[in-house]
Amino acid sequence: MYVCTSRPSLDKMLDEKRKQGHKIHFVPTMGALHDGHISLLKQASQKNAVVVCSIFVNPTQFNDKADLDKYPRTLEADLALIEAGSDCRIVFAPDSPNEVYDQTYQEQTLGLEGLDKVMEGAFRPGHFKGVVNVVNQLFAIVKPDVTFFGEKDFQQLAIIRLMTKKLNLDIDIVGCPIIREPNGLARSSRNERLSVKMRAEAALIHQSLQELKSNYLKYSLETCKTHFMRSFENSPLEVEYLSIVDGHTLQEISEWHETAYAQACTAVFAGEIRLIDNVQIFA
Ligand code: PAJ
Repeated sequence: MYVCTSRPSLDKMLDEKRKQGHKIHFVPTMGALHDGHISLLKQASQKNAVVVCSIFVNPTQFNDKADLDKYPRTLEADLALIEAGSDCRIVFAPDSPNEVYDQTYQEQTLGLEGLDKVMEGAFRPGHFKGVVNVVNQLFAIVKPDVTFFGEKDFQQLAIIRLMTKKLNLDIDIVGCPIIREPNGLARSSRNERLSVKMRAEAALIHQSLQELKSNYLKYSLETCKTHFMRSFENSPLEVEYLSIVDGHTLQEISEWHETAYAQACTAVFAGEIRLIDNVQIFA
């Protein structure tokens, strides 16, 4: 396993791989890895490809300082998981934010066609500005041919696709399906902070999304939304938002016929832990 903590050591390694004719397949992460991340690394493992994983807790995408401070940093365990669960053997784990935000860094202020104004963008101001800038900088550092992002962060994936298009980057973006716990809860680094009881209760998020999906032909969008909200009434979970959006524009729809591609996205508090999930209703 090659763990590069600085940019020159990564450049040297990747230049060699390119010269040998390998494509660079890249999975950016913030560590505290779980099966969701490993599934991305597995998907990235293809013929003639070298898989690179970055592990960097990016301070600029946290709008809440406490959330940043509490974000788990588990590098040793992450490396062990990567080694045991995937073919990835090159990890970029910068030892300081200065390694990422070096003299080459130029802040982007891209127009994102409103994709960044709704849902996570509305509830976490500045979050996507941080994500766009760190991903663009990581792309400049790693220079990947193909990168892999989870559909768990549906809005992030849409924004990265748009960013890549707007900046004319010659990089393929591959979306990967959501990996779930046996009870349906989407795998997340934040799940580790839930009590055993809360983790069981949190299964309701996926259940309610699935119910919405199975009911959409029978009921109006408004009724489906009301059912969804009611399903949480006797639980300790608190819904921050449920948005049913066009999967391309991410703008809310109020009737099913307004789109041919509907996605339901939600953020739910389990105590102080904020969990997000989404499901495609139809496409
Ligand atoms: P992080 O939350 O570590 O997630 C890294 C990648 O793993 C993202 O593409 C995310 O969508 C994917 N992922 C997380 N949980 C998943 C699950 N249950 N199933 C499938 N994929 C899952 O997302 C970030 O980091 C950061 O914003 C980053 C892009 C690295 C920029 O800092």
